[in-house]
Amino acid sequence: MRKPFIAGNWKLNLLTEPAMNLAGELKNRLRGVDQVEIAVAPVFTALSAVSKVLAGSNLGLSAQDLYWEDAGAFTGEVGPAMLKDVGCKYVIIGHSERRQFFHETDESVNKKVKASLKSGLIPICCVGELLPEREAGKTLSVIERQVKGALAGISKAEVPPLVIAYEPVWAIGTGKVATPEQAQEVHQFIRKQLALIYDPTLADSIRIQYGGSVKPDNIKDLMKMPDLDGALVGGASLKAETFVGIIKAIG
Ligand code: 13P
Repeated sequence: MRKPFIAGNWKLNLLTEPAMNLAGELKNRLRGVDQVEIAVAPVFTALSAVSKVLAGSNLGLSAQDLYWEDAGAFTGEVGPAMLKDVGCKYVIIGHSERRQFFHETDESVNKKVKASLKSGLIPICCVGELLPEREAGKTLSVIERQVKGALAGISKAEVPPLVIAYEPVWAIGTGKVATPEQAQEVHQFIRKQLALIYDPTLADSIRIQYGGSVKPDNIKDLMKMPDLDGALVGGASLKAETFVGIIKAIG
């Protein structure tokens, strides 16, 4: 009942032309795949061009961040209305790279999740612990703080489109994937938190992606876990071969 959802986070990569080429190749090779929901997240400057390439396809467009206002004196920011204007359906929020390098906090993540839900963009809200936090046995308390922080003040009626991505920071770009059991423990915990904040039925309907060194050869075992509903893919989403391989492995 939860449709698997695979999204490619292109991060700070690909100029407009290579981004359009990759999108075009994915569109062709993934034509007709309807058992998996698929999205790609190019940089802001390529969104408009990639949107045109993906028009009419089964691939959705995602931004990698947003600001919580639609307009005003906020130099350098991009708001929900602008993302919708270029054809975005999703937006990644609170990625660990934004938390680590760009001062993203639980409060700003919360404002962004609220703004995206209000505008009709589907938020892919990222949570995940650092290696020292895992080693200190603090994984679940960090995740609890991040989940509660992201969802503060968001009602049961507003939350259903939300997607959560569990990305253990030590697994991102390191080739060190979490074991299916390590991922499942946290995914189950996140679902329990959702059940406590909202209710078990709603918690059961929300998709929780895993992210961190996902590849065509490890996705299948991860997807066997009952609370794992897809993946947020970094490096392996930059090549059609590997991104398609991940989707075909489960589709
Ligand atoms: P990698 O797949 O490169 O480890 O990145 C994961 C990620 O950060 C996706 O958002």
